[in-house]
Amino acid sequence: MKKLSSAQIRKMFLDFFKSKGHKILPSSSLIPDDPQLLFTVAGMVPFKKIFWGLEKPKYPRVATVQKCLRTNDIENVGKTPRHQTMFEMLGNFSFGDYYKKEAIEYAWEFLTKWLEIPEERLWVSIYEDDDEAYELWTENIGLEPRKIVRMGKEDNFWGPVGPSGPCGPDSEIFYDTMLDVKECPDPDKCDPTCDCDRFLEVWNLVFTGLYQNEKGEIGELERKNIDTGMGLERITAVMQNVESVFETDLFIPFIKKSEKLFGKSYGKNEKNDISMRVIADHSRASAFLIADGVFPSNTERGYVLRRLIRRAVRHGKLLGKDEPFLYKFVDVVNEVMGEFYPEIPEKYDLIKETIKAEEERFFNTLDQGLALIEKIVSSSSTISSEEAFKLYDTYGMPLDITLEIAKEKGVKVEVDGFNALMEEQRKRAREKRGDKAFVGRTYEKLANTKTEFIGYDELKCDAKVVAIISNGESVSELRAGEEGEVVFDKTPFYAEKGGQIGDTGICRWKDGIGKISNTYLNGSLHLHQLKVERGTLEVSMEATLEVDEERRNDTARNHTATHLLHAALRKVLGEHVKQAGSLVSFDRLRFDFTHMKPLTKEEIQKVEDMVNAVILEAVPVTTEIMSLEEAKESGAMALFNEKYSDEVRVVSVGNFSKELCGGTHVKNTGNIGSFVILEEKATSAGVRRIEATSGRNTLKMIREMRTEIETLSKELNTPPNSLVQKVKEVIKENSDLSDRLTRVKEKMLKRMLDETLEKAKKSSQEIVVFDAQDASSAQARNIADMALNSIKNGVVIVIFSPKKDKSSFVVKSSGRVKANEVAKKIASAFGGKGGGRLDMAQGGWNKKVSAKEVDEALKA
Ligand code: ALA
Repeated sequence: MKKLSSAQIRKMFLDFFKSKGHKILPSSSLIPDDPQLLFTVAGMVPFKKIFWGLEKPKYPRVATVQKCLRTNDIENVGKTPRHQTMFEMLGNFSFGDYYKKEAIEYAWEFLTKWLEIPEERLWVSIYEDDDEAYELWTENIGLEPRKIVRMGKEDNFWGPVGPSGPCGPDSEIFYDTMLDVKECPDPDKCDPTCDCDRFLEVWNLVFTGLYQNEKGEIGELERKNIDTGMGLERITAVMQNVESVFETDLFIPFIKKSEKLFGKSYGKNEKNDISMRVIADHSRASAFLIADGVFPSNTERGYVLRRLIRRAVRHGKLLGKDEPFLYKFVDVVNEVMGEFYPEIPEKYDLIKETIKAEEERFFNTLDQGLALIEKIVSSSSTISSEEAFKLYDTYGMPLDITLEIAKEKGVKVEVDGFNALMEEQRKRAREKRGDKAFVGRTYEKLANTKTEFIGYDELKCDAKVVAIISNGESVSELRAGEEGEVVFDKTPFYAEKGGQIGDTGICRWKDGIGKISNTYLNGSLHLHQLKVERGTLEVSMEATLEVDEERRNDTARNHTATHLLHAALRKVLGEHVKQAGSLVSFDRLRFDFTHMKPLTKEEIQKVEDMVNAVILEAVPVTTEIMSLEEAKESGAMALFNEKYSDEVRVVSVGNFSKELCGGTHVKNTGNIGSFVILEEKATSAGVRRIEATSGRNTLKMIREMRTEIETLSKELNTPPNSLVQKVKEVIKENSDLSDRLTRVKEKMLKRMLDETLEKAKKSSQEIVVFDAQDASSAQARNIADMALNSIKNGVVIVIFSPKKDKSSFVVKSSGRVKANEVAKKIASAFGGKGGGRLDMAQGGWNKKVSAKEVDEALKA
């Protein structure tokens, strides 16, 4: 058998299926475009709608390497040779094209001819009554009947993912590791049905000819499809002849990094090995989740990410780390997978920062949480529901971690009680802001409601109310004063997307009127945030929708200007400039892009000039609908990681800019009027941000600047063109005056001090109290020194208060009296603090205390 690297296997897989007429598509996001699913759990997820017949396929046969995430078994990750959360699935798909025969032939050819796995090592399982598959395997492929096992629905039926969807019987291919597995109950009769680990499932061929509805009823799909999945990590383990995926080239660099970072060797101590495997798996999964836009939080996807990071942190702690370390593994993720998954290098800084921040958050409470667990288990064999909840709520300890520790310590956790407390907390939160899950279902039910968007060409239209949602519930009407989300069959209102803000405007109907304060999407639902001002708006009513035209036009100007800015930045700074975020509003635009250093003044001007040149040329802005393929071939800029459908809209400005974009634009760059950069700054390492404005706002801004200049000019009594000179003069004058004032003050203080000392000497006073007014503490010490020098024997107290509502003092003594005691006494006489050495002490009060008061207090 060849020894192949994981990268070679990925490539061979795609090359093989390309040679069989498959279209090779890139991996989709881990976050599916599917309200039923939290994550992409298999290679077929991005094609679920196609399998189901809800969407037309663009290519009849496709192959991918899909990043996937499965979270049902997190607690086992690290403890076994093969459990993972994130993994890569090699898959080939047929949408009504080839079926069982070819699927089986292709898989066999790839495994035996391309990977050169000896045939005798391969076994298969089929669905119990799938005789067709049996014949194909025996007759077509020539597999010995003893190597084909039939299994039931539990094992050989795949799908649906989520509560409903495409599914079907499957046939799995197993690799016989020939290992002498100790736990095998019957080594002589061992086959893929055996629970022992000798047979390793490597490839699942699903004959997706069925679908299951939400009630669990199964029906036939119109088209027969093929969905297959082979875990890259497993097949790599086979090809690299190792028992665990963690010993493949996909994971070894992570283990090595752990050995270095924690100063421990892998393979010496099972506990340490588990921790290293946990960290390897969870760092990959966390990096990919963040790259796909997930942030740690307490709900849904964000909570999965949080659990992954925190579980890894706890294992790092077990390996002896007390400070963030996991973020350092992002380098390894990048090194091992960055080439195949460009989102990793692209989001590198964001990933690192996000992981580190979450680590810091957890490290803050981890010790306290662990101490609490120790305390509980030292005196009890159960962690009560309240305790588990406190660990979660106060110390940020996800239940998985509590359970894991409990298992290690041999104690129980009252999980049901914990869940009840969680539910109570959720209920309280729900009551505060409406039930999210319930709300989610409301939107889900409406998910197939379509709204026709006509806002590229029209800003006004008649439409019918299709649905109204109020506080997360579908309702039939909204009355005067009430606010809700309204779905229409048709709308000119642009829903916030691609950085462009949603439209606002007016909705009128017979006897009623309402204000639309925002428009946005929930899945594909086009929601209008509407407040009824008069009348009652009901489902099925006819209404007229009217977009706030000025605001929309201002926004369109900024949007086209954003495209010009993007293009100009690439021309001026280079092709490495990539959009990293954007906001297109009516009053300004914000554009984040990858670039390592601040722009120079010249670069900023050059960009500004370039954009304005295109504006002044009045170039028509055109839009075209084309296939994604064509768009990419035409050189249109696409956003990385953005999900595009097969048909895309391409917005072009002559030859200057071409971008995939669903936003609204001006018809001609001349409409933009003007473009001004307001600010250029860093947002995070390697990402710069430009804020700019266009059109009427430039005028507004210039007017504001003009008013400011006029005000200044009036205040300074100087014509605008000599303002700078004037300000310089004023500053200079001010500084001269301040110097003079200081000198005068010093002189005055000196004179007052002389008088005081004179008096003291005359009356042989031993204690001198002097008020140094707003002198600084250095000045006060200086004065005290001078005074003591002058009286020779005795004590000098200098009171000073550079700050309002506060006084301080310095005490100096020539010897007989202890300065620190004097300081303590006078401080406490007025409720302050004081202390120091025998010869010199200081103190103060949080209020004004005068020298006179101190003097009197001393006398008293
Ligand atoms: N969708 C199938 C699986 O995930 C191939 O096993």
